[in-house]
Amino acid sequence: MTLAEALLSRRSRYSYGPLSRLELGSLLHYAVGVQRRVHADVPGVQHVLGTNPTAGGLPSLRVHVVLDGDVFEYLREPHALCPTGTTDLAGVFAQEEFARRARAVIVLTGRMGPGLAKYGPRHYRTAHLDAGVAVQNLYLVATALGLSCCAVAGFADDAVKALVRGGEQDVALALFVVGGSIPPASGHKKCP
Ligand SMILES: Cc1cc2nc3c(=O)[nH]c(=O)nc-3n(C[C@H](O)[C@H](O)[C@H](O)COP(=O)(O)O)c2cc1C
Repeated sequence: MTLAEALLSRRSRYSYGPLSRLELGSLLHYAVGVQRRVHADVPGVQHVLGTNPTAGGLPSLRVHVVLDGDVFEYLREPHALCPTGTTDLAGVFAQEEFARRARAVIVLTGRMGPGLAKYGPRHYRTAHLDAGVAVQNLYLVATALGLSCCAVAGFADDAVKALVRGGEQDVALALFVVGGSIPPASGHKKCP
């Protein structure tokens, strides 16, 4: 699929089929994974940069994945899901159907420390831009992989923060619900 085809066929969908680990891994790798390493000013130190650009190239986002009630943190290096706990998605979504229908929920939170240290309070704006960039990457990669997905801003901040065991410097930014594709005949009814 070309980028133009992905941009034109991308949709938010509300029904989700089974999702393989390979599909999930590909989605994470291409949307929010490592793209390259660059040398830092300090000799011997390298910065890791992602397929999703962030302001200043800072590691401003944390990515968690909820699968069948288990919570994992996605570590783009070494491209692994690291178990961090369990959760009940009830109470996380404003539209509770998402909790029942999702095959995987990708949770984007802001790790505010590095950005606040470098940019001050302006980083509260930048963090949301970083999340928006990541969400569009997720939409386009999911489309190219033939997956069903939807970005979700309707969530309870406290529940998301608890889900990722976030501290004072962590901010809930966006959720991204994903699953395998469902033929249109089965319906892509909106979540009420
Ligand atoms: C940042 C963001 C947050 C969204 N939050 C929700 C949401 O909470 N609930 C929902 O049903 N759809 C949500 N959507 C999906 C939008 O409603 C959808 O993108 C819009 O209606 C356009 O449809 P399309 O994505 O199929 O082009 C969100 C989309 C974006 C980009």
